[in-house]
Parts: sequence; C-alpha cells; structure tokens
Amino acid sequence: MGALTEEAAREQAQSAVPASRLTPSFDFAAPAPSPVPVVAPSVRVSHVTKRYGAGPVVLDDISLDIAPGEFVCLLGASGCGKSTRLNLIAGLEPATAGEIVTPDSGTAVMFQESALMPWLTARRNVELALRLRGLPRGERRAEAERLLGTVNLTEAADKRPHELSGGMRQRVALARALAQDRSVLLMDEPFAALDAITRDLLHEELERVWRATGRTIVFVTHNVREAARLGQRVILLSSRPGRIAGEWRIRSTTGRRIESPEVAALAAEITAELRKEIARNAS
Ligand SMILES: Nc1ncnc2c1ncn2[C@@H]1O[C@H](COP(=O)(O)OP(=O)(O)O)[C@@H](O)[C@H]1O
Ligand SMILES: [Mg+2]
Repeated sequence: MGALTEEAAREQAQSAVPASRLTPSFDFAAPAPSPVPVVAPSVRVSHVTKRYGAGPVVLDDISLDIAPGEFVCLLGASGCGKSTRLNLIAGLEPATAGEIVTPDSGTAVMFQESALMPWLTARRNVELALRLRGLPRGERRAEAERLLGTVNLTEAADKRPHELSGGMRQRVALARALAQDRSVLLMDEPFAALDAITRDLLHEELERVWRATGRTIVFVTHNVREAARLGQRVILLSSRPGRIAGEWRIRSTTGRRIESPEVAALAAEITAELRKEIARNAS
C-alpha cells in the first residue's frame, strides 16, 4: 500500500467514479452500487459481523472498501452501529466474524470530545502525540507549531484547553490526530457538540486539511447535511442489524458549502432514503 504517493492516490480516488454512474436527474451525486477498485484500498472491511457478548447482532455482514485519499461519510441514526464500525476499523474492538485490513502504520482517531490533557497547552498536547510517535525532542516544537498552523491555531499555541472555545479544542484535537502521521483518519461525530456556525467553519478547515494532507478520512455523523457537505461518498447505514442501506458518490466536491443547492438536493435524496429505512424497521 506504500507504493503510491498520497497525491497520486488521491487523484486516483477522485477519478474513480465513471461519468456513466451519474443520474440523469441531477448530476451532483448518484447511487454507487459497486465501487470500482482502482488502487488497493486503504481500508477493507470484509463480511464483518459484530455482537457484544451474547447481545444482538449490531453489524451484519458489512463489506466496504475505502480508497487511499478518499473522504467517506458513514451516516446513520443514533444506535445504528456507527461508532462500533469505526472502533472496529481502529482496532479498538474485535470483530465477531469477518476481516478488517488497514494500513500497517495504523489509524488515527478523533472523537466528539477533544480529550486533550487539561494541564498542557495546545502546543504541548500536540507535542505529546509527536513524542508518542517517536519524533526526536529537538524537532517536536517546530512540528507542533506547523501542525497548529495547519488548523489555523498558531495564535492559541500557548493556551490551555479551558481557555479555548469548543471549536478551537476540536482543532487542537485535529492537529493532534495529524501529529500521529497515519494515513487514515477516523472521525466519530467530531463536530456534533459544536454550534452550527462553528461547525460550518470546521467543515471548511477539515476540507482544506484533507486536500492538503491527502489523508483517507472516515467521518461518522448522524447529520445528513453534514454528510452531504463533506463526503466524496456517503454511506447510509440501517439499524438493527446494521447494514449498508444506500450509497452515493459525489462527482465534484470543490466549492461545496452547507447552503449549496447541490448539498440540499443530495441531503433531501438521502433523507428520503433514510425515512424509507426507518419505516421498514418500524413495520
Ligand atoms: N461496548 C458495548 N457493549 C455492549 N453493547 C454496545 C457497546 N457499544 C455499543 N453497543 C451497542 O451497539 C449498538 C450500536 O452502538 P453504537 O455503535 O455506539 O451506535 P452509534 O454510534 O451509531 O450511535 C447499540 O445498541 C449499543 O447499545
Ligand atoms: Mg456513536
């Protein structure tokens, strides 16, 4: 998996959707029945089933390939198994059956709560991740400052978490996740606790960081608009048991905003599908 440069991988990932896949109704997104594997996937989930102990089946025979450099949103209602999926990919939970392949270097995870060390400044929090990664002491400060610059937090480097807003804390958490230098970034509802305006700003930041770093991003959310705003691919998950209920590929992701008409159109289409899914479960 290491043979491709991140840039080349991203180009391949972005060109992976043939134009023929696009619906005639609107050319922004289309159901993607089977992704075309152009390069070896960065993450491969094969026939994975998950139960906690003797509990019910949470995930039922899930298969999913994620290309290097791809930005995938996993969307579903609360309790449908989104975090479970992410934790399995992160290796934090074992699968009951099936196989998960991730890059040898592992994955970085970011959660809804920033989980920063409260007694350390923003820079020290990032430096800690660099130390755990094994970066020599003499290089850590400059690298931490570079990463804080990447998330537009240069000014706040010497502040402690309680002196930062929720949005700033999540930016530090993002810088810390980037400090781990893993090609795959797993994000579990990282902006769910933020107000809408801050969330919009962080969507822009995250998109910029994604384009600049070539990371593969798996972003979990229950927010349809957020998924339509961010993803190159949106995967809709069903509940009880968790299965893949629908999938959309977005041809062009540049210049999207939460208020863009194409984002609204895609969100409406996904919401219609989600309603059908909920009705199916209720019957
Ligand atoms: N550690 C655990 N032990 C037992 N059951 C769990 C555990 N984690 C999650 N579950 C159950 O698995 C299901 C999916 O949970 P989760 O993956 O957290 O969903 P989501 O992130 O979509 O809200 C829920 O029914 C939840 O109660
Ligand atoms: Mg969750």
